[in-house]
Amino acid sequence: MASRAARQLWTPRGSGEIIRFTQTGSVSRMSPPCHTSALLLVFVALAVAGAEQSEERSCDVVGDESSESQTERALLKKLEPLSHMRFNVTVEKGKTENYVYNFRVCREVNSTSHDFGGLVQTDRQNGKTTVIGRINETQVFNGTCIVSLLAGDWIMLIYKGGDSYGRHCSGEKRRAVIMISCKRGVTASSFSIISEEREKEQECFYLFEMDSSVACPAENSHLSVGSILLITFVSLIAVYIIGGFLYQRLIVGAKGMEQIPHFAFWQDLGNLVADGCDFVCRSKPQNAPAAYRGVGDDQLGEESEERDDHLLPM
Ligand SMILES: *[C@@H]1O[C@H](CO)[C@@H](O)[C@H](O)[C@H]1NC(C)=O
Ligand SMILES: *[C@@H]1O[C@H](CO)[C@@H](O)[C@H](O)[C@H]1NC(C)=O
Ligand SMILES: *[C@@H]1O[C@H](CO)[C@@H](O)[C@H](O)[C@H]1NC(C)=O
Ligand SMILES: *[C@@H]1O[C@H](CO)[C@@H](O)[C@H](O)[C@H]1NC(C)=O
Repeated sequence: MASRAARQLWTPRGSGEIIRFTQTGSVSRMSPPCHTSALLLVFVALAVAGAEQSEERSCDVVGDESSESQTERALLKKLEPLSHMRFNVTVEKGKTENYVYNFRVCREVNSTSHDFGGLVQTDRQNGKTTVIGRINETQVFNGTCIVSLLAGDWIMLIYKGGDSYGRHCSGEKRRAVIMISCKRGVTASSFSIISEEREKEQECFYLFEMDSSVACPAENSHLSVGSILLITFVSLIAVYIIGGFLYQRLIVGAKGMEQIPHFAFWQDLGNLVADGCDFVCRSKPQNAPAAYRGVGDDQLGEESEERDDHLLPM
């Protein structure tokens, strides 16, 4: 427990606390040994606070802290916005099965029970609860689905170490597999159970799925900023045209082409642009002699000097 709490100190939040402490003048002005012991005190205080606050317990990936993969940490960080939410799904099969599955992302479903249960099944007939998976034995990975046109990126969250199966699955511990599919614009939705695989010898699991935008790749959110700008720009133009049109028609009382807002200005601009294009893009002068029209490129190349002579003032 103490080691877990100490580990939590190294989360960005914990280290932020420590930096704030060292930055207050009174602490940093102390002599080095005193400084160290003060820091230690802070550590212990935070560790105790962390242990007391069961709410702060989060996902702990399988394996030692040193061997925890950076990818898993990155993914858990991505899932963090969902951690305050609760999900449930009810399963009713005939008269015998009536279960509710409660799920939280990287938090305990029931923080007073201190059992690390992240996905808990409750039998609605007798109120008996069974932990399907625990957040202290988390595994997480992501991927992209390229076979299907509809499905895109996904994150797979696995809680292991649940309560043991009775006679099924050689009595191994239950595990919950939650597939989070990318769906833009939704924080989290449609949590549902796909299957309960327990007629196997081992490696049984409960499979759930849900949609969330946290599973989507980050790059495309920048793209959506671009499209928001584009939409704003287009809307402003539309407002200008429609508003201007109404103003010209209803207040100024203009008719025909005059109803276009700033008609004279746009006409001038159009002329300017046309002149500019004419000047820059036209391959031969407008008043080129008719004799040179429709001549092949090869001939033009040879006679270009001669043609230019025509343009010179005599
Ligand atoms: C399940 O969640 C819904 C809202 O998402 C809530 O109204 C309902 O009471 C919950 N049921 C259980 C059994 O927790
Ligand atoms: C949470 O766990 C405690 C202790 O095990 C239990 O008394 C309580 O009923 C549980 N709460 C819910 C909502 O299941
Ligand atoms: C996770 O928590 C449960 C219940 O407290 C415990 O039995 C189990 O050993 C823990 N697993 C790990 C890997 O710490
Ligand atoms: C998985 O997540 C990591 C970290 O967020 C990301 O860099 C990587 O591109 C993702 N991989 C896939 C296949 O989506």
